[in-house]
Amino acid sequence: MPTKILHKERLIPGRTSKLVLDAPQIAATARPGHFVILRVDEKGERFPLTIADTDKEHGTITIVYLVLGRSTQMLEELEEGQFIHDVCGPLGRATHIQRFEAPKKVICVGGGTGVAAMHHIAKGHHEAGNYVIACIGARNKDLLLFEKELSLFCDEVLVSTDDGSEGQKGIVTDLVKGRLDSEGGNIAEVVAVGPVPMMQAVSELTRGYGVPTTVSLNSLMVDGLGMCGACRVTVGGEMKFTCVDGPEFDGHKVDFAELRSRLGSFRSQETVVREHHRCNCFEKKEA
Ligand code: FES
Repeated sequence: MPTKILHKERLIPGRTSKLVLDAPQIAATARPGHFVILRVDEKGERFPLTIADTDKEHGTITIVYLVLGRSTQMLEELEEGQFIHDVCGPLGRATHIQRFEAPKKVICVGGGTGVAAMHHIAKGHHEAGNYVIACIGARNKDLLLFEKELSLFCDEVLVSTDDGSEGQKGIVTDLVKGRLDSEGGNIAEVVAVGPVPMMQAVSELTRGYGVPTTVSLNSLMVDGLGMCGACRVTVGGEMKFTCVDGPEFDGHKVDFAELRSRLGSFRSQETVVREHHRCNCFEKKEA
């Protein structure tokens, strides 16, 4: 169903934008962790985006995307008041959120545009009554996302930048390690959303502390319905489909080496697809 863009904000001009969409049916049922699959026009490629926020009262959802290829470039060319051809969702399994009694705390880690998806999960933990520490990182302060939004409800927002232009100089994993050391066993869960190397590094770090860790995987997706197999990952030695079994999994059980290999092996084809592909999945066939 055509979905109207109510608000557009270029968070990092030419690179990352935020859209607020008029999607009351999705907003009514979407929970943290859910994602949508959209097509910008009738013949467009289907691609997934995690829901960064919902407003049930106004019937809106918020999505954030990195302008990376043809489809996101097409999306970037749409302005407020225009329509996306269709937005399907909410898809995937919602985040498992449980209440942790004080002094237990939850750390939510975000990198890149993963900060937007992490925002929705952190909000869910806050609404459940948990003490939430958000850790966000970027190469420099101009690339930090959602710092202001997270500070509206998180108990603490810790920032790192590679160049030290804001917050602690270094990588976001350093922030997590610092809190794991200083909290002395009070961290009940860590959630990490962002680039695969970051999620892997966080998972390897928390394993040593015995802290349960949830990651949200950004596998390639085609149908988003569990039928094509494109998004398969190995978790705890079992094959899982990110679109229907995830996108969130136990970070200590994910085979990150395989995931990185699969993502890397499609890179050249992806470039071609991004530049030239026009999806024919929903073309009407001649009788
Ligand atoms: S995208 Fe096809 S099985 Fe998940």
